[in-house]
Amino acid sequence: MKKNVPKNGEVVKNTPHVIRWIEDFRGKVWDRVVTCLTGMRPSGRLHLGHYKWALENWIALQNNPNIKNNFLIADYQVLGDHLWDTERLRASVIDMVIDWLAVGLDPKKSNFVVQSYVPEFAELFNLLTMFTPYSVATNNPTLKDEMKKIENRGEGENSFVSLWFINYPVSQVADIMLPYGEIVPVWEDQIPHIELARKIIKKVNTMYGTDFPLPLAMISETPRLVWTDGSDKMSKSLGNTIYLTATLKEITAWVNSMYTDPGKTNVQAKWNLEKHVVFKYLDIFYKDKAHLEDLKKRYVEWWEHSVGDGEVKKLLIKVLDELIAPIREQREYYKNNMDLVISSIAEWSQNVRNMGQDLLSELKEKMWILDYGREFRR
Ligand code: TRP
Repeated sequence: MKKNVPKNGEVVKNTPHVIRWIEDFRGKVWDRVVTCLTGMRPSGRLHLGHYKWALENWIALQNNPNIKNNFLIADYQVLGDHLWDTERLRASVIDMVIDWLAVGLDPKKSNFVVQSYVPEFAELFNLLTMFTPYSVATNNPTLKDEMKKIENRGEGENSFVSLWFINYPVSQVADIMLPYGEIVPVWEDQIPHIELARKIIKKVNTMYGTDFPLPLAMISETPRLVWTDGSDKMSKSLGNTIYLTATLKEITAWVNSMYTDPGKTNVQAKWNLEKHVVFKYLDIFYKDKAHLEDLKKRYVEWWEHSVGDGEVKKLLIKVLDELIAPIREQREYYKNNMDLVISSIAEWSQNVRNMGQDLLSELKEKMWILDYGREFRR
């Protein structure tokens, strides 16, 4: 039976359910095999933000022999608030799988799981809703935010919050629990869902004497990516993004449209590089930190060193193209070899189905919903 909390993981004060992504995570932190589950909604093509927030970390997890990884394609979850959009969603599933393969995720090393292919998720979800007080389910800041967004869609028939939607965090608890998930790499907005998971699973364990692991959220240290104008996080629903499929031409146009420094309007003002979108991206994506610091220094003292926006943008274009070009190429490869993508998609979920059946029969046995005739049989 699995133990609850992994031993030497760095635990942040007052939030024992959250681990920060730690640099020395690779290899030495865990002293046994730890199960990881994380997922993505297939709702469109993936962009740089997905790469930095998620995929890059997932690849590091995949390369860690102490971690058993499950990567979920959350097709039911996205359907839950896009009922009218089935045709596009269908294409998004395949698109997302191709993106995953192109960045180096490998279904031979990690379980790829399609949510709708695993009916055990739905069965566990059904049981877990019984353990969830209504007040706990609805008092979830992320859910509340998302409900508001749906309501703001206007008067149309797509602007209603469905019962399923209110329940989606519970469905996410089933996603995590079914393969005995212990660490859940997610963006910060998902932390309330992990807290919910711990509450529900703890309740199951205390009521029925089970020992299912209480999951930890694993939070990436990567700062949010901003729009080219410097505002808000980069989001696929908002346009203004750079996809993992971008051509050099698209990358160039995108970087050139970036807002640089408000200090520009006032030469006297101390230039605030924190607001300089190009430098913000270089901070995240450019590995040669010494060169970057030097460049920043020379940029701020531009009257002596003549480093202008042109030079900085050119560097960012190069850095991003070096990152995206191999992904683009791999993507082409998979697009031309679709049988590699689709031939095994149905099989990928089988491992998780098997684990799920184990978990469900244990839980149902404990809940006495197995074999009602048992007591009468001789
Ligand atoms: N809600 C996640 C997202 O929007 C996707 C997801 C579904 C997920 N099930 C999960 C993430 C379970 C972590 C664990 O990207």
